[in-house]
Amino acid sequence: EKVTAVILAAGQGKRMGTDVPKQYLRIRGHEVLYYSLKAFEESCVDEIILVAGEQDMEYCQRQIVEKYGFQKVAKIISGGQERYDSVYAGLLAADDCSYVLIHDGARPMVTPEIISRVLDGAMTYDSCTTGMPVKDTIKISDESGMAVDTPERGSLWTIHTPQGFSYPVILEAHRRFRQGSYRISVTDDTMLAEIFLRKRAKLVEGDYRNIKVTTPEDIAAAEAFLRERDVSENT
Ligand code: CTP
Ligand code: MG
Repeated sequence: EKVTAVILAAGQGKRMGTDVPKQYLRIRGHEVLYYSLKAFEESCVDEIILVAGEQDMEYCQRQIVEKYGFQKVAKIISGGQERYDSVYAGLLAADDCSYVLIHDGARPMVTPEIISRVLDGAMTYDSCTTGMPVKDTIKISDESGMAVDTPERGSLWTIHTPQGFSYPVILEAHRRFRQGSYRISVTDDTMLAEIFLRKRAKLVEGDYRNIKVTTPEDIAAAEAFLRERDVSENT
């Protein structure tokens, strides 16, 4: 039962707005992507497929995988225009696994413990995501910025990666999505299994610190979390 992780690093980071894509920014001396890869390297997964931009594949190979000696990175492949294109490329490259975990390279605070929890969920439920109960009240807005609904907070979760799947399930969900011309906005992978296969995702707790580095203020938060982790590891 081979377990493969697909780590996504082919985005452009438009919301971050830096010249260097956010997954390659250094925080506390290392690239954001380094922290993500290190957690998977030290986790229960057998193999890692790194999905990068065509222009960054060589940089990833030399300056990240070889430099840090990540043994589990079996392939570096090029991603696509949208996140779901990059995921699909990763899935095609992971064709010999039983379970696949999909992770945003831009979430450096993932840990081997979180990875193991999502894999357990994937093995039991075929589709599983990490996330956390929301702390803020969430409202649904109309186009004019007026609130139209306030869903009950107790049933709301914010969704993170890693997400884990039985390989045939997520491959089939992506295939069905790609066969049609659906105008849905795809923001994670579990939603494709929900919509196209009616396969519901098990929600497991990750960690409030497992943020996605997305906008400039997230850098300071990630830096503080990584510093806190360093300090606790050295005491
Ligand atoms: N990603 C990817 N391929 C894409 C788009 C995104 O591999 N075509 C990856 C990003 O590198 C990131 C993860 O998917 O690790 C989550 O995406 P997001 O936070 O949206 O990153 P970007 O698309 O790079 O940022 P933005 O949307 O602000 O441009
Ligand atoms: Mg994006």
